[in-house]
Amino acid sequence: TLTCVIMAGGKGERFWPKSRTHLPKQFLNISGNKSMIQQSIERLELLIPISQIFIVTNELYAELLKAQIPHLPHDNIIIEPVGRNTAPCIGLASLIIESKYSDSTMIVIPSDHIIQNETGFIDILKTAAKLANDGDNLITLGIEPTYPETGYGYIESTGIEQTVNDVKVYKVNKFVEKPNKEVAESYLEAGNFYWNSGIFVWRTEVIRKYIQQLMPEVHDILETMKYALGGMNAKEIIAELFVKMPDQSIDYGIMEKAEEIFVIPCLFGWDDVGSWTALERIDELDENGNVIKGNILNLDTKRCIIESNGKLIATLGIEDLIIVDTEDVTLICTKEKAQEVKLLLKELRMQK
Ligand code: GDD
Ligand code: MG
Repeated sequence: TLTCVIMAGGKGERFWPKSRTHLPKQFLNISGNKSMIQQSIERLELLIPISQIFIVTNELYAELLKAQIPHLPHDNIIIEPVGRNTAPCIGLASLIIESKYSDSTMIVIPSDHIIQNETGFIDILKTAAKLANDGDNLITLGIEPTYPETGYGYIESTGIEQTVNDVKVYKVNKFVEKPNKEVAESYLEAGNFYWNSGIFVWRTEVIRKYIQQLMPEVHDILETMKYALGGMNAKEIIAELFVKMPDQSIDYGIMEKAEEIFVIPCLFGWDDVGSWTALERIDELDENGNVIKGNILNLDTKRCIIESNGKLIATLGIEDLIIVDTEDVTLICTKEKAQEVKLLLKELRMQK
């Protein structure tokens, strides 16, 4: 059975102040008139029924999720009491899916990415599912890199090619999570590297085997959880055990160390909408290269990203700034610092 796990526990801090702890990025309309998670689910429903789609999120967002996706069976919501990054999230999801389907090929996907070509995307997932189904491997979806981004994982192809459902697939030499600038530059130059899109496909049995091998601490907790499943107070026991999970991503924990990885190069128009500057790629620009949302008057303003919440924002003679006005916070920041918006939040928390 093909299943899908949507990871929706992120805090979207680089989209502050629009994204807030009680309403993070995946639940917001960043582009289009539906929230990112609603769009993600609609897209996946082109491939599988909602009954096979599972969403892992923090307990803070369970009600929000039910309200935004009313047709999602409540049993398919997997709750984390705390965020422990993606490895425990994926581990728990694989355990729950295993308990429902004896043999499942599972698509793991973030809730807050933009994908432009939906049919292209579905075709790639079908290919990935076929490849995962036929072997003990981990499938990644690779994106052609365009600049030395240090916030992504890089996948090195061996060049050893295979064709599945008419799609080219490559054996992976190595996976490197978030290299530094120099290393990222050398990867771009080498030409046989892809960005990791953060979308993975594998059989539950295979990822569990890798977790056992490479993250024994996570494995042991999952095994204890397994005994609780189906018993009395299963949810409470699982929540208590989950808190003990180490905080680690699947990229560092498994992908950097695993042997049998494949990459499928993807051309479906992917963006992880990582920070405010993503809007320049997603939205339309005015004749001066600005992204303008809401009530804005600008003169002699170039390459800015400006979002108003109703109040008029008037700008004159500014360049390369991000201005976001919300009910209680106004952010003004250079585009250069877009990745560091989190620092403001950290500082605010310290002052409290
Ligand atoms: N449920 C749950 N619980 N979801 C989580 C958690 C968690 O504890 N932590 C993160 N997520 C979700 C996020 O909401 C996001 O959709 C996805 O998992 C990936 O987490 P990020 O925190 O955004 O990861 P990243 O951006 O640093 O890096 C990952 O994504 C890049 C592409 O966007 C890596 O996979 C990189 O290799 C990759 O290039
Ligand atoms: Mg991310």
